[in-house]
Amino acid sequence: MAKNKKFWKYFKQYKVSQIIAMIRNGNKKQLTCDDRFDNKLVVITGTTSGIGTYTAKKYASMGADLLCINRNEAKSKKLKEEIESQYNIKCDYFIADLSKLNEIHEVADKLVALERPIDVLIHNAGLTLSKQQLTDEGFDMVFVVQYMAPFIMNYKLINKLKGQESARIIMNNSEGHRFVPWGLILDDLHWKKRRYSGLKAYGSAKLAQLLSMHIFKEKFIGSNVTINSMHPGAVESETGKDNWRLYKWYKKNILGKFLRPTDIASDSLYYMGVSKEIQTVTSKFFSLTTEEIPSPPAWDVEEAKKLWDLSIEICNLN
Ligand SMILES: NC(=O)c1ccc[n+]([C@@H]2O[C@H](COP(=O)([O-])OP(=O)(O)OC[C@H]3O[C@@H](n4cnc5c(N)ncnc54)[C@H](OP(=O)(O)O)[C@@H]3O)[C@@H](O)[C@H]2O)c1
Repeated sequence: MAKNKKFWKYFKQYKVSQIIAMIRNGNKKQLTCDDRFDNKLVVITGTTSGIGTYTAKKYASMGADLLCINRNEAKSKKLKEEIESQYNIKCDYFIADLSKLNEIHEVADKLVALERPIDVLIHNAGLTLSKQQLTDEGFDMVFVVQYMAPFIMNYKLINKLKGQESARIIMNNSEGHRFVPWGLILDDLHWKKRRYSGLKAYGSAKLAQLLSMHIFKEKFIGSNVTINSMHPGAVESETGKDNWRLYKWYKKNILGKFLRPTDIASDSLYYMGVSKEIQTVTSKFFSLTTEEIPSPPAWDVEEAKKLWDLSIEICNLN
């Protein structure tokens, strides 16, 4: 019943013009930023492949120090050595499996304890699964990595970031939030009562990220902290590596032909973190560097409030 009510509510809000804008934005030339970012600290999750690696290198090439949050020690060490030998910056890392609540809390606490300000925090780590995996706590893996981990880190960092001169949080989001056109099912965030759909689970996690911005924006009022989300384009990366063989075949032989170079995503994440043009913009969704209206469920502030209360509970933040 509740689902049907939302269906009509959102149905009335859909506009063809917004879908056309989405298609156009994807092909628009992205804006770039050439300003240096020397001696700033940028925290990025998931830098061991794909967009995360490119983004780490982009910020390093512009003078920023890096703090990477990854689950794989060997890959992190290799990347640190590569980046530090190529650029004159410091590249540190914390190891954390962002599907485990205790590790997310631990790494968030380490960020809170940092003496340096965090100038940019990029939530990039993510995955897509065609078959559901549950975490040790029995949660949906995709929802934890993509939504709960950023939520916990952002929440714990509120006071630290507000105490700084400024900070920007960027969530590497996706047009995939549109895969759940009728919104989240709040009483089944972990897919226990429905048949699992990889696309919808991914879309739900990304939609939840967008909804969380409404409340984080309120929490950051009176400070120079902004929080925005960005679709990085459909680009080359290792996403889907944990999926079925059929998906891998599809990605290699069909989808792969349409994917764009990964640096369009990293250049855009640099623009989002550094450009003065958007320094006061907050709680917005961007397709690369173009501000875009996300799908109607993402504007639902009442739903955002409900999700916030639930998140505090399931993320053990009370
Ligand atoms: N590529 C695209 O076209 C596209 C489009 C829209 C949105 N995105 C978003 O962009 C972000 C980056 O994805 P990508 O395409 O670059 O994929 P990718 O190449 O698969 O990179 C994903 C990164 O996330 C890390 N990660 C996954 N699970 C983790 C966990 N439990 N704990 C810690 N780190 C974890 C991976 O670490 P390992 O190396 O250890 O696996 C890797 O560093 C994702 O949020 C994705 O949803 C991508």
